[in-house]
Amino acid sequence: MRLASNNGCELHLIEPMGFDLDEKKVRRAGLDYRDVENITRYKDYPTFALSMKDHRIIACTTKGTQNHCEIAYQPGDVLLFGAETHGLSEEVMQSIPEKRRVRLPMMANNRSLNLSNAVAIISYEAWRQQGFAGGS
Ligand SMILES: C[S@@+](CC[C@H](N)C(=O)[O-])C[C@H]1O[C@@H](n2cnc3c(N)ncnc32)[C@H](O)[C@@H]1O
Repeated sequence: MRLASNNGCELHLIEPMGFDLDEKKVRRAGLDYRDVENITRYKDYPTFALSMKDHRIIACTTKGTQNHCEIAYQPGDVLLFGAETHGLSEEVMQSIPEKRRVRLPMMANNRSLNLSNAVAIISYEAWRQQGFAGGS
């Protein structure tokens, strides 16, 4: 949440989630509950995809074939990340063209990056390509 408010991304969350956004828990985690009110939530992936039909969805996945720096991000692009536990489902992945599946390089024989690191790197690269528009 903090990252999204820092780099101007909108945060959308798709159910089912492995955590809850109960006000007490959010405050206990040291987060500002007002940020939760800016999140849009969806009951499932099809509902999300429908509401994003006018946007380009870019899947961020260890199974991507495009390097995350080699794609030209555009304003309005959606960066789609998978769950910390199991990543994006095969079904979701297949619904996104291969040229829009990006991967962060990693050294061989390593586990994937954790979700928050992957989000930080890719969202900042997308923003960098926009000249850090709106940032100071
Ligand atoms: C901890 S990973 C999920 C692990 C799962 N086993 C997998 O391989 O997708 C959580 C999410 O972080 C993102 N991620 C992690 N490493 C990545 C990488 N090298 N390239 C692109 N996205 C990555 C993906 O969106 C992934 O679904």
